[in-house]
Amino acid sequence: MQRWTRPLLELEGVGYHPAAAERPILDAVNLCLEPGQAALVVGRSGSGKTTLLELIAGLATPDGGQIRWDGQVLSSRERRWLCGLVFQFPERHFIGLTVAQELKLGHRRLDSERMEQVMATVGLAGVSLQQAPERLSGGQQRRLALAVQLLRDPKVLLLDEPSAGLDWSVRQELVGLVGRLAAERLVLIVTHEPEVFAAVAAKRWQLQQGVCSPLP
Ligand SMILES: Nc1ncnc2c1ncn2[C@@H]1O[C@H](COP(=O)(O)OP(=O)(O)OP(=O)(O)O)[C@@H](O)[C@H]1O
Ligand SMILES: [Mg+2]
Repeated sequence: MQRWTRPLLELEGVGYHPAAAERPILDAVNLCLEPGQAALVVGRSGSGKTTLLELIAGLATPDGGQIRWDGQVLSSRERRWLCGLVFQFPERHFIGLTVAQELKLGHRRLDSERMEQVMATVGLAGVSLQQAPERLSGGQQRRLALAVQLLRDPKVLLLDEPSAGLDWSVRQELVGLVGRLAAERLVLIVTHEPEVFAAVAAKRWQLQQGVCSPLP
């Protein structure tokens, strides 16, 4: 009987050492991720979590090693297509003057029903589509950035500190949403609050001084 297999995202010996950095920011990182359950990379501030996501998402190019999807080595451009990255500080990246404009980037014909649906999915049902993104709270901005990525429907969803600045009930909603999203696609979360995602994260790694090691 043939077994149905899901595509894997594999990092093998991925290193990153920009000229301006004294030591490598990432040193021979190996990771193997599969869709089905969220994976976590945990690390202190400055340990390289955001850098790791930027490399996977194709916003930076590793100095060594390979990033493979379904066995194929992908270029940075191909990874930008494959991945949706929700930034740690999304307010630095908004383009639209309104929430609706932000959601419509890349989807000129997006109807209001679909916009309202995706806003509800990320827990922003009551927020006006005419509001300026900068006027949303930090947690709402991160959820708007997630909505933008959900509309793109990437195969790999990368979340940078998604629970930062959210209150308890919004965190619980986020955890439920992450669990549902991870059932259909690959979700990788980097965080310094791993306990928030304990119920939905099957695999965990720790990033320490550029070295990534599995956690029990
Ligand atoms: N292009 C670069 N040149 C030099 N140093 C860099 C560069 N990019 C990142 N760094 C350094 O690499 C280290 C890791 O940064 P990174 O933002 O990935 O950490 P982080 O784990 O996401 O931290 P935080 O939890 O505070 O968000 C930091 O010391 C940072 O200053
Ligand atoms: Mg970071």
